[in-house]
Amino acid sequence: MSTQQIGILTGGGDCPGLNAVIRAVVRRAEVRHGWSVLGIREGWRGLLEDHLTGPLNLSSVSGILHRGGTILKTSRTNPAAEPGGMDKVIERLRQLQLHGLVAVGGDDTLGVASVLVQQGLPVVGVPKTIDNDLMGTDYTFGFDTAVNTAMEAIDRVHTTAESHNRAMVVEVMGRHSGWIALAAGMAAGADYILIPEFPVSIRDVCASIQKRHARGKDFSIVVVAEGAKVEFEQATTEDGHILQTSERDAFGHIRLGGIGKVLAEEIERITGFETRYVILGHIQRGGSPSAFDRVLGTRMGAYAVDMIAAGDFGNMAALRGNQIVSVPLAEATSRNKKVDRELYDIAATFFD
Ligand code: F6P
Repeated sequence: MSTQQIGILTGGGDCPGLNAVIRAVVRRAEVRHGWSVLGIREGWRGLLEDHLTGPLNLSSVSGILHRGGTILKTSRTNPAAEPGGMDKVIERLRQLQLHGLVAVGGDDTLGVASVLVQQGLPVVGVPKTIDNDLMGTDYTFGFDTAVNTAMEAIDRVHTTAESHNRAMVVEVMGRHSGWIALAAGMAAGADYILIPEFPVSIRDVCASIQKRHARGKDFSIVVVAEGAKVEFEQATTEDGHILQTSERDAFGHIRLGGIGKVLAEEIERITGFETRYVILGHIQRGGSPSAFDRVLGTRMGAYAVDMIAAGDFGNMAALRGNQIVSVPLAEATSRNKKVDRELYDIAATFFD
């Protein structure tokens, strides 16, 4: 009897901890189940273009645990957005006769995985995003690393802000949810945190900074998520967002970024305090994963392989409390996980 083969791909924005998942999938498949593993490169694009697949083995995943990014590479290719794309992916998967496919990604990648399951294909998911905004799992790997990176950056901004008596605005990622801004801002002692979940007016932000200065603090740190909704007085806005460009990716998302600049200009104009801004951008997605993310990625990768062994398709590995469990892919893709009012309210205790 020939060895059974499973496949793995990583889709969407990259994220620290992806290599931990790949390594765990290969090891669990080979050592525990006696299966071989096919690596599919560049996400769903790898199934649209034949040359992007090749075997993975113990030696190809050796020494990758501590490395950021993904050795399989990734893309935001959406097969549903290309003429005949889904049919091509389905046909290719049928040809490959995989015993199971591990799709590692965020809501877009897992959304495509759900469609494939409806077509009878044996797909399981592993949730991934630095944004931590996927439903169904308490945490996604990559988030902890991104938060620590942002916290360290804010710590650095803190010392220069203090030396110069300035307000400093730090823009972090977070398109739909403010998890990174909230956690990094709280950890670094931010004086105001703006997130998509709770819109604020520029006047409220400035009043808070002015109050702080009135009680003798000469500097302020403001953390803003790229998707935060701010009611400005004279800045250019569209749906409460500042747009960097009108470009959209294959899943239709507008490219955000730039709210930090407008916020800094407005704070300076209204308060008269000298203000600077910094946009952390992709620095948050790069680099070596934290211990937490390496362990979480490893646990989820191994669990996903066991899900295939159990025929548990259409579901994804998720963290609930301290357990890895199987939850429906549909749950992860239903809506974004939001920061709740109670948590934001604790952060707001420090806003003036
Ligand atoms: O993957 C999530 C994310 O990092 C978001 O926080 C951000 O808005 C987006 O990806 C940026 O995507 P890209 O790398 O395609 O510009």
